[in-house]
Amino acid sequence: MIKIAILGFGNIGGGIADVIEMNKDTIAEELGEEVYVKYLLDLRDFPDSPYADRVVKNIDVILNDPEISVVAETMGGVHPAADFSEACLRAGKSVVTSNKAVVADCGDRLLKIAAENCVKYIFEASVGGGIPIISPIIRDLTSNKIESVRGILNGTTNYILTEMTSKGRSYADVLAEAQALGYAEKDPTADVGGFDTARKIIILAALAWGRLATLDDVKITGITEITEDDIKEAAGKNCKIKLIAEASMSADNKLVLSVAPRTVKSSSLLYSVDGVFNAVEINGNAVGRLVFYGSGAGKLPTASAVVADIIEVSRRRSEVLSRLEWTKLEPGMSDISSVPSVLSYCE
Ligand code: HSE
Repeated sequence: MIKIAILGFGNIGGGIADVIEMNKDTIAEELGEEVYVKYLLDLRDFPDSPYADRVVKNIDVILNDPEISVVAETMGGVHPAADFSEACLRAGKSVVTSNKAVVADCGDRLLKIAAENCVKYIFEASVGGGIPIISPIIRDLTSNKIESVRGILNGTTNYILTEMTSKGRSYADVLAEAQALGYAEKDPTADVGGFDTARKIIILAALAWGRLATLDDVKITGITEITEDDIKEAAGKNCKIKLIAEASMSADNKLVLSVAPRTVKSSSLLYSVDGVFNAVEINGNAVGRLVFYGSGAGKLPTASAVVADIIEVSRRRSEVLSRLEWTKLEPGMSDISSVPSVLSYCE
């Protein structure tokens, strides 16, 4: 039996426990043994949960238990999630996460610590929720030079813009609903301000080019200034406004990263990406353009990706991610002077 711990028993942490229970036969068949949630780390108590007796408050319980081989971190925010992840890796436990803030801020360091301790640090759920996007980049596209990456990477803002466009609903009303549906971050400023999307494009760029940028390297505009008039004006031109993230390398080898609301033409594949759905377009110099599409947020889609990572590290045969090495982007090696302007057309 593979015994795991989940850090954070919120929406995603609960989803992981649900997927493990819902698909226990399939998972056991895949691995040849069952996955068992031994601990849930959370400051809160959950007296009505079937997992009530497995809730612990002290990370040391998990760190000191040799039976725990995999830890799923779904706490959100950088601290203490990054410190707990580091401690787990140093204790010889693989860590899987949906926490893009930690991956974007500390992914280089945590990957190195994982390699030094012969365990894995993997994060399929950190970008695009349930969409398999990280594994394809590092496994299936290694024969390509990645030329550009772009996409709709935030479910909350896409849901808000879609509802405003199709039903004429107000921004505040839809945001409240997105929070209730479990799409939005604890502090939804991260969503509507474009920072969550920026962290995701930072992660995709690091996967594509090996350099981990910071938020300061990204030209970020969120959706807070988008008005109903902007939306109507776009609709009048048979377009939709979407929050688009883009990453590319300039001719002088600098990373060009941006997040901005753009006017998406109906001829673009991104035009039809509505609601909580995300899409990621990748251009490889051999394969051409690829598009990955699916649920970008939500309990079970995100948990689907985390549990797949739990299965992957539990197989103990994947070497792919242990070879992943990122270094911090050097100062002066990003360039936002050429990024498209807010509401400019997106083909
Ligand atoms: N708040 C995020 C979103 C959750 O809306 O996309 C998934 O990363």
